[in-house]
Amino acid sequence: MEQSLHRYPSPDGLRVLMASSEAHPLIKTGGLADVAGSLPIALRDLGQDARLILPAYPRAARQLREPKTLCEIKVPGARSSVRILSGSLPDHDLPVYLVDAPEHFAREGNPYTDLSGRDWGDNAERFLLFSRVVAQLAQGLPALDWRPDVLHTNDWQTGLAPALLKDVPGRPATVFTIHNLAYQGLFDRATFDRIGLPSSLWGMTGLEFHQRLSFIKGGIVFSDRVNTVSPTYAQEVCTPSRGCGLDGLLRQIGTRFSGILNGIDYREWDPAVDPLILQPYDQGNFGLKAENKLDLQREFGLTRNEGAFLLGYVGRLVEQKGMDLILGILPGLLQDPDVQCVIQASGERPLELAIQTLAAAHPRQVGVSFGYDETRAHRIEAGCDAFLMPSRFEPCGLNQLYSLRYGTPPIVHRTGGLADTVVHASPAALDEGRATGFLFDAPTADSLWQGVQQALTLYRGNPEGWRRLAVTGMARDFSWEASARCYLQLYADAIAERRLAGAQSTQPEAA
Ligand code: GLC
Repeated sequence: MEQSLHRYPSPDGLRVLMASSEAHPLIKTGGLADVAGSLPIALRDLGQDARLILPAYPRAARQLREPKTLCEIKVPGARSSVRILSGSLPDHDLPVYLVDAPEHFAREGNPYTDLSGRDWGDNAERFLLFSRVVAQLAQGLPALDWRPDVLHTNDWQTGLAPALLKDVPGRPATVFTIHNLAYQGLFDRATFDRIGLPSSLWGMTGLEFHQRLSFIKGGIVFSDRVNTVSPTYAQEVCTPSRGCGLDGLLRQIGTRFSGILNGIDYREWDPAVDPLILQPYDQGNFGLKAENKLDLQREFGLTRNEGAFLLGYVGRLVEQKGMDLILGILPGLLQDPDVQCVIQASGERPLELAIQTLAAAHPRQVGVSFGYDETRAHRIEAGCDAFLMPSRFEPCGLNQLYSLRYGTPPIVHRTGGLADTVVHASPAALDEGRATGFLFDAPTADSLWQGVQQALTLYRGNPEGWRRLAVTGMARDFSWEASARCYLQLYADAIAERRLAGAQSTQPEAA
């Protein structure tokens, strides 16, 4: 594999343009941002020339290091010309391009929704424009002496870029990653007619999905390679129950579709050197972790008790994440005064209200913080004993990986990336020192309850067994390097496929 890669382009490695609608630390609503912010860095660490492009939301533009205007380009759908800014991440020299189209992106708040949580009414226009610019840059711009060998797009917001490039001669190879198949970028037919996409893109073999416009289909149908973020989720989405209507298409593309587990960035998530937590610790001095628990209890006004069993949750409040299951078991769990829970979440209002009500009823046992705060997320990972992730489905999941690193065994539903990354504490796995957390089989409150009870029993009944479980998780390696190598192979496959297609299309017709 190495060889075939190094034979390919320049001595500076493969040129990869990563397009994403969010990237940490410029802007983040979820796991996609972590991946888009760290995979290109991991690729650079492997000697490749990876670069990142995203919309110039104000928050992202403010943080761009050494920003310069690279050029202005004309893009259909934008009233004025669009500026391309270039710079780098605030904390890394990864080159970043920002698409500055104020009419589309100069809005404070969330990249996808207004302040009340409703999708921006012009999301189709906004992300079509972004995809158009991505497609232009992927073909090379006069002002930029650089053209990618591979365009790597992510999720529906960038799905139209491969569609726009499909017939462009000499286009780069294209790879599309699905971070969550449930978000598809669906709009009505009238939107398709309005936004000025070529009519040839309509239809079952194009962007049409049950008479609607589907952005994600653009990525799936027109990319040379498609992947999702764990092997198990890749299998699950090929079945009707998890395929969100696209399982047939995913089965049809066969070996063009695969699963690659995400990595995590240990420069940011390492309890031994994390500046955001009170007391650093590692596997050798796991006992020090308790200081972070006391600190977290203080921060959230909980009873300060080192012996309490403190559960954590960090995540968005959407049906996928299973907060309703947590709410289903907490009243029962909290009858035990030595069980506590800290939640950082934001999302659907009724769930926020239910959490608030529960916290108000148990102020010394339940701590809540709404919204996303990176510092607090680190402190929860470090301060809790165990981490709850009852997701109904989970393409990869990153918080369970952070939990493992922080010696906070995750209690997770056996699905997607959770099943791929957590080793259940069965008696045999505990004995053999392989166990890292608790898996339960059904996305139900009963099943979650059993998982938590199992954890509690080990925590209280066998502190040494618990320590071993936690430090086994801490020692597991989910760094990006291995995953980045898998992406390099995927890029090589995409390039090979592209070359083959090019060769076939230039071959004279057989007489
Ligand atoms: C989405 C998925 C999550 C995944 C992340 C990064 O947020 O829901 O499972 O880890 O993308 O790929």
